[in-house]
This record gives sequence, structure tokens and C-alpha cells, in this order.
Amino acid sequence: MSKKYSVLVTGGAGFIGSALCQKIVKKSNFNLIILDKLTYASNWNKIKNIINNEDVFFYKGSIGNQKILNEILIKFKPIYIFNLAAETHVDNSILNPSKFIKTNILDTHNFLRVLLKYYKNLNKKEANKFKFLQISTDEVYGDIELIEKPVNELKSYNPSSPYSASKAAGDHLVKAYFRTFDFPGLVSNCCNNFGPFQHHEKFIPVIIKSLLENKKIPVYGNGLQIREWIYIDDHCNALLKLIESGKIGESYNIGTGFELTNFQMIERIFNCMRDLSLIKNVSIKECINFIEDRPGHDKRYSLNSSKINKLCGWKPLKDFNEGLKETIYSFVKK
Ligand SMILES: NC(=O)c1ccc[n+]([C@@H]2O[C@H](COP(=O)([O-])OP(=O)(O)OC[C@H]3O[C@@H](n4cnc5c(N)ncnc54)[C@H](O)[C@@H]3O)[C@@H](O)[C@H]2O)c1
Repeated sequence: MSKKYSVLVTGGAGFIGSALCQKIVKKSNFNLIILDKLTYASNWNKIKNIINNEDVFFYKGSIGNQKILNEILIKFKPIYIFNLAAETHVDNSILNPSKFIKTNILDTHNFLRVLLKYYKNLNKKEANKFKFLQISTDEVYGDIELIEKPVNELKSYNPSSPYSASKAAGDHLVKAYFRTFDFPGLVSNCCNNFGPFQHHEKFIPVIIKSLLENKKIPVYGNGLQIREWIYIDDHCNALLKLIESGKIGESYNIGTGFELTNFQMIERIFNCMRDLSLIKNVSIKECINFIEDRPGHDKRYSLNSSKINKLCGWKPLKDFNEGLKETIYSFVKK
């Protein structure tokens, strides 16, 4: 091992985890260990360029696997841990909730149990540095009305889907381990991410791919559900700030204030792709197929992110249209 400190990223082959790993590799003072189960949601192409670096170590496995966790902890003694390993697609959580309970609650708890033991055996200097960041979502707060103010970290969790309920449970466990065992964990709650090469099941890729393939875009219900959007790099920058300066036992919202209805998002993408000459002369109405609403579909999420801004000055930097263009081009066959 060439560098002084080690960072462990779980779910590092996923959409956000892989972008975070790319950023960590650029910071020269860390070894990076990636643990990923490589489920259908992972994307090896997003990390293959860094896998052979001398300070990057990849493990295929689960956060539910005690043996592999102990092997990594003993060998690398990580001081920072980012937990992004999760089942993440709401629709799948409605079809098969058990997978979400297993990964986002049971495996997460196994991870915490193993980490607590590890933490308690660190020497004082290492223990003072050690931090665990649980990457979570705005969906755990449940939905809010149009007239309501963006929610801050004091709002009680009120999840609607098996996905958000399982993430909520994972977050509660992290907080409980802090309160009960002094485990130095903290939680981040981010809004909807977008960026290049997101898994094709997610909303923005579905819109882009449908338009590229002349297929109708499936839109749940009336399309008026509101989501807050962040470019993936802005989220990763916030996570890097939080692991260094976030207070243990606390939660931090990561949002942009940039809210769109699902229909407005389709319009934005449609207009952008038309300007880039990627779609033929069709009207937006011809491209949409309204389908039965998703059960339990949340109306609106909206985060107040002033806490992280006050903590470390973090704010989102990416221009939405620029991020959208990069995302669209990632799905255009060369
Ligand atoms: N995508 C978003 O818009 C968004 C927004 C807020 C928060 N989050 C949270 O960020 C985290 C990452 O999200 P994402 O969009 O990158 O997800 P993703 O589905 O793209 O990636 C998840 C990764 O975790 C891996 N994984 C699954 N189960 C595992 C296990 N038991 N052990 C090890 N690895 C496992 C998968 O193989 C995959 O590579 C999740 O916790 C999610 O809840 C996502």
C-alpha cells in the first residue's frame, strides 16, 4: 500500500459510488477500497479505468458478508467509510420488497455491527479520525404539499415506499448506533441525482432512451409529481465535504432548490434533444403515454440544505442544462 490513509466505498460500482470513487482517486492522499456486490445496477465501465491503479483495491462482495468485511478492515484499516451499497429503484421495491429489506436494512445492520467492533479496537488516534457516512435520500421524509416550505433535517421520517422505508430504517440504525454505542456515523439525505450513464431504469434515462428510440415515454399519473434534481458531481462533492467536516450523529440534506414536475423534466429533455437535432419533427404530446399512477407515489420532495452550506460552504455548481446535455450524449450511440 502506497498511501497513508484508506477510504472504503461500498456500492462503488453503482451510479453515484463510481463517480465518488473517480473523485477520491484524484485526491492523492488516500488508498481507495471498493466493495460492491455487482448487482444488475452496477456499471463496471464506470470504474474500470481506475481498477488497476496501485492505490485502488476492488472486492466483489456484500456489506452483509462478515468475512469479506473483516478481511478488508484488517488489511486496510480504513478511516473513512462511505456506504452507498443499496437497492435503489422504487418500482422494484414495489414488485419485490424483500430484496430491499435484506440489503438496505439487514445487510446494512450487519455492516454496522462489524464496523462497531472494528472501531472499538482502533487506537485513539485512528478512532478520532474514523467516520462512517450513510448515503441516504430525500424520499425518507415522505412527500410534502406544494405550499409547504422545503424540509430541514428536523423533519420526522415518513416514508411511503418499501424503498424509502428500508432506507429510513438503515438511517435510523446509524443514528441508534451513534446514540447507543458512540459509533461515529452520520447521514446525508440527497435529492434526485442525474448524470451520464445512469442505469436505464431511472426516470431521466427512460425519457432520453424513449425519445432516441422513437418510443412513447411512460408517465405515471398526471406527471405533476415534483422532484428536486442534483447533478451527480455536486452530490459527490458534498459527500467529500461531509466525511471531513460533518458532525457525527447528525444528518445533512443535500439539495439544489431546483424543482421540476415530471412533465416539466420531460419538456426540458425534449427541447434540449430537439435543439441538438437528436429527435425528429414530432410534438411532445405525441411522445408521451400516461399510464396508471404508481401506488404510493409521492407528490413532492423538497429539501432545505442550509445546514451543509453553513457547515462547509457547499453549494451546487453545475448548470442544469449543461449537466443534461452531458447526460443525453452519454446515451447517444457513437
Ligand atoms: N440515485 C439517486 O438519485 C439517489 C438520491 C439520493 C440518495 N441515493 C442513495 O445513494 C446510494 C447510491 O445510489 P445509486 O443511485 O448510485 O445506486 P445504484 O443502484 O446505481 O448502485 C448501487 C450499488 O450498490 C451495489 N450493491 C447493492 N447491494 C449491495 C450489497 N449488499 N453489498 C455491496 N454492494 C451492493 C450494487 O451492485 C450497485 O453497484 C443509495 O444508497 C441510494 O439510496 C441515491
